[in-house]
Formats: sequence, C-alpha cells, structure tokens
Amino acid sequence: MKLLVCCLMIIVNISNNGKASIESFTPTSSGILFEDTTKNSDQSCHRPCKFNVKPRRCYYSFVIEPTIQESGRPAISINGMSPGPAINVCVNDVIVVEVKNKIPDQDETIHWHGVEQRGTPHMDGVPMVTQCPIAYGATYKYAFIASSPGTFFYHSDSVSHQSDGVYGSLIVNQPQPLEPHSSLYGYDRSTENTLLIAAVFPQLLTGNLEDASGMQPNAMTINGDEGNFKIFVMQGFAYRLRLINAIAVECPVLVRIERHEMVVIATDGRSVKPAAARTVLIYPGERMDVVVRASQETGGYWVRARGTGVCAGLVADAMLIYSGFNYTSMLHQGQNELAQDSDWSAVSGQMLESLQDVAEGPDPKTVYLGIDKNVVNFKENDVDFRYISDAIPKKPFYPASLALKESGVVQINGKSFLYPNSPMLLYPRDVKADFTCKVGEEAKNQEPQCVLTMEPEGEMLELALVNEGFGSNDSYTFHMHGLSAQIVATWQSPDGKPISREEFEKLMEDQKVVRNIRNPPVKDTFVVPNKGYTIVRIRADQAGSWLLECRACALSSLPTAVLINVPQKMPKSIIKSLAKCGNYRPPDVLLN
Ligand SMILES: *[C@@H]1O[C@H](CO)[C@@H](O)[C@H](O)[C@H]1NC(C)=O
Ligand SMILES: *[C@@H]1O[C@H](CO)[C@@H](O)[C@H](O)[C@H]1NC(C)=O
Repeated sequence: MKLLVCCLMIIVNISNNGKASIESFTPTSSGILFEDTTKNSDQSCHRPCKFNVKPRRCYYSFVIEPTIQESGRPAISINGMSPGPAINVCVNDVIVVEVKNKIPDQDETIHWHGVEQRGTPHMDGVPMVTQCPIAYGATYKYAFIASSPGTFFYHSDSVSHQSDGVYGSLIVNQPQPLEPHSSLYGYDRSTENTLLIAAVFPQLLTGNLEDASGMQPNAMTINGDEGNFKIFVMQGFAYRLRLINAIAVECPVLVRIERHEMVVIATDGRSVKPAAARTVLIYPGERMDVVVRASQETGGYWVRARGTGVCAGLVADAMLIYSGFNYTSMLHQGQNELAQDSDWSAVSGQMLESLQDVAEGPDPKTVYLGIDKNVVNFKENDVDFRYISDAIPKKPFYPASLALKESGVVQINGKSFLYPNSPMLLYPRDVKADFTCKVGEEAKNQEPQCVLTMEPEGEMLELALVNEGFGSNDSYTFHMHGLSAQIVATWQSPDGKPISREEFEKLMEDQKVVRNIRNPPVKDTFVVPNKGYTIVRIRADQAGSWLLECRACALSSLPTAVLINVPQKMPKSIIKSLAKCGNYRPPDVLLN
C-alpha cells in the first residue's frame, strides 16, 4: 500500500511539472450530486426561494438534434426548442441535465456559462479539457450545484452549434431579502423577464463551415423571436430584466427601451453599484441585469436590441406593454421611434463598480498575454486544426488553412490553441508533451498551435491581455471558465497606434497603468479593446482546468485560448464514472 501511495505521488508530481503543491479535490457535497437525497426532485424547480429549506435536485433531459422551427428556419434545437428550456432554480439546488446528442456526425458538450463548478470541474463542458465529447447517440449526465445566485446561460461549447440554436437561460434565484438591490424593483420574474439575445445565420453553420460565405448572421432574435416578445408591466411599478447576449460570434449588442431609462444592478450575475443608463452594451456571453420603472403613460414601448460588429445593421425588438393597453396597434404602427435615435452611447459592464469592495492583497506579478492577428506559415499536411486525438488521423481542415494563409488568425503570444489529445483535467499524463506549451515559454514549441497552458504561481493571478493591433482593428471578447476575473483596468490607445509588448512594459514601469483594485467589477466575460488592454486579477482558488477563451475570435480559423490549470487530483472514483473518449468521430465543427 505504501508503495502505491508513493508511486501515485510521483505520477502526480510529474503531471504537474514537478510542483509539489497539489490542492486536494473537495467537492463540497458530492453526495447529493448523483443520488436524490432530497426526495422532491421536480421538473419545475422554479419557486419562490426561501430561507432554511432543503435545496432541491432539479432534473432536466435535453435531446439535441436538427429540426425545422415554426418560423421555417432550420435549427439545432433542444427538445425541439430553440432557445432550449429555461432553467430557473434556487441557490444551492443541484442541477442535473442529461444531454443526449442526436446531431448526426457531430460531437457535443454543453457549457454552463458563468457557473463556477466548485468541486465539479468535470462538469464545465469543454471537450478534451474537462470531458470526452458526447458522441452522436451518446448521453452525458451533467450534475452541479447552483452555488451562486445570478443570471447565467448555457450553450453548446461549439460555436456553430450555439449559433444554430443550442442555448438557453439559467437563472439562479435567492431569497428576496438577500438580493442587495431588491428595494429598487417590485418584480423579479425570472421566467417572463429574461431576454436571451441571439443571432441567426441564413443556413446552419453545423456541417457547412467550409462555405465561408454563409457565415454572416442575417437576423437577430429575442427569446427566439424577431419582434414579438412581450414584457407586460403595470404602470408605476419597477421590474428587473435579465439581458443575456447568447451570441457566439463577435456581436456586441446595444439595448435600449423607448422613453424608459434603465438602472444597471448586476453584470455577469454579480451585483454592482447601481448605474443609470439610457443604453447598455452587452458583449457576447455577457449578462446584464437592469431595473426598468413603468413610469410613462399607459402604452406600448419598443425594446430594441441593436447589433454591432459582425451583427451591424441587424436589430431585434421586444415590446414593453403596460397593462390595459391594446398592443395590436403597435404591430401596425410600423415606425419605431428608436430607429431615429442617433446617440447610442452606452454603459458597459466593464465600466461599472462592484457593490462591495474586494479584498486587497499584495500585488501579484503581471503575466503578459499579447493578442493579435497573425498570418501563419504552416505545414499543410502536418496539422489537424480540430483537436488531435489518437483516434483520428491528422488532416488539414481547409477553412482554417485559408484563414492561416490569407487573413491570419488571432493568437495569444503567437500561439493558436490546440485541444489536447486527451482530456487534460481527467488524464493529464496522457496529454502529449510535445503538443503543449507554457505561457512565457512559447518559444520552446515550434508549432503555431499548441495546448497553451499556465499554472498560477500564487493565489492571485494578474493577466495583462494586450490587444496589440498590428494585424487587426478588432476588439475581442474573452470568457473565463470557472474562475472569476476582477477587471482592474481597461484602456484603448487614443491615437489609434498599435501597442507592442515593450511599449506596454514601459507604461507599466512609468506607472501609467491605472488600476481600480478597490471595487473593480467581477466578471467572467470581458472585452479587450483593439490597440489597448484589459488587466484582470483572477483568484485561482478553485482546482480545475479552466479555459480563458476568445470564442468569437475563431469561427472559421483556429481556437484562441489559454488553459489555466489550478492543480488538482481528481478522485479515481469520479474519473471511473465518466465515459472514456474511445473512438469518437471527430466533429465537422471547430471547437472553440
Ligand atoms: C385591439 O385592437 C384591435 C384593432 O386595433 C381590435 O381589432 C381588437 O378587438 C382590440 N382588442 C381588444 C381586446 O380590445
Ligand atoms: C486598421 O485601420 C486603419 C485605419 O483605418 C487602416 O489603415 C488599416 O489598414 C486597418 N488595418 C487592418 C488590419 O484592417
């Protein structure tokens, strides 16, 4: 027995590159994840949340398959619906979702966007990082605790599946007295007042990625509808609306309501100091909770979501309808007064201040992540642009090779991300050493694409994401899985000049980088402006393999991401209970 323990220790040490500090894996209440100990599991966990009651186990079954929607549009839907079923639970409930993949020739995983996955890093839904992809015909059971209240959503980890319709809302409520801003509103109806904003493409992206011409969205929707979603209000009362940008491509969305001001109270599920806004700007994957008071005369008012970036020129409308108003006239009214507005200057989540001051510690060392679009020389026959696995032969994927040669790909420190050949979290020793590279030591790996990883040196990690802007004029939205990021600084060059690593380091040396370390907004989704930077502080207190990714960077090219490994030792019993990757079929989609 002693011998076994000693060998395990050595193996663990090797897999963590000799670092001795191994956090033990402690699922807080793993018992209730897999057994129903609450005896009251219920399809509908939506209920008023109360103090001192047992959490419930909330069970959902998702069947994901291609369908034709009522509108006549094809979609990849969940149980025939897009968006998929709304998940509404109370904090500390256990969410169990059995996902069956019925998309022919495609693998699938579902990511629970913004959910911390405390103690369940294998439920984060990143293929070949936290789990084996769910093959066609197979089922995977997700089970995790809704440990934090707030506005979240779920979506396919695949950008093309998400764009084709695999997404839905996930709202975690808590007892009303615990809501810090509950005095600002009378109604928080998370089922009726959640707005999922999406973009649709003229054809399914799934299976069609090789035809790059179809990659521009041609419509936007709110809760699956282009102009018919209705929010009913009573004059004089205030309502909490939850806005979710569920778009997978680079479409920041502006939202405003005719003749009504909003008060932003939360971003990415976390409370902020209330901020009045005529218009809010929500980046892909970002969420914003706002309060709207029905203070105008009885009537019907348009709520407009206006696309920017890849969605420039597209809009989706919803209706804010006062009780007693006959809204049929609105449908014929044609003219929407918002169409005339020219000033759409907006409040964005990154500009806000967190409600509570964050605990200050010693200043962490800053890690530089230079982001830019680079044209890459690559060996055509030597690279697989999806994830590499022992099960599939290497072969080039042509949309990506087009991007590499002609327009370039967005990289971090000169590297595109490679999905590991084996799930990093579960089988770290199986990940081929020559596939990986480390932040700061990128030069040791000659390939343009590698499993780019880093391990935090202390509990607090500071990342300077610098969008250098030599190769592109685009801003990029990033999403941090599992861990949350304090956005301590965001800056964009006023003179429109690219910024090099040396120039950034000079700014740091000259103390010209101004940080808000007192009350920065705490977020999981944030933008890095072109020719500028965003500096985030991440508390690496949760064991797991967490992706920091730019989903929108890579629809038709290579993934842009860094994997932050917070060392852990997954219990063997958990690994054994999970499906092996086996000879799964590679998907015809890019996993990013
Ligand atoms: C609402 O208005 C339409 C015409 O604008 C009318 O046909 C309909 O009967 C009205 N509905 C109610 C409930 O008054
Ligand atoms: C960025 O914008 C500048 C100024 O408009 C333009 O000259 C340049 O070509 C653009 N760069 C790229 C990569 O599009």
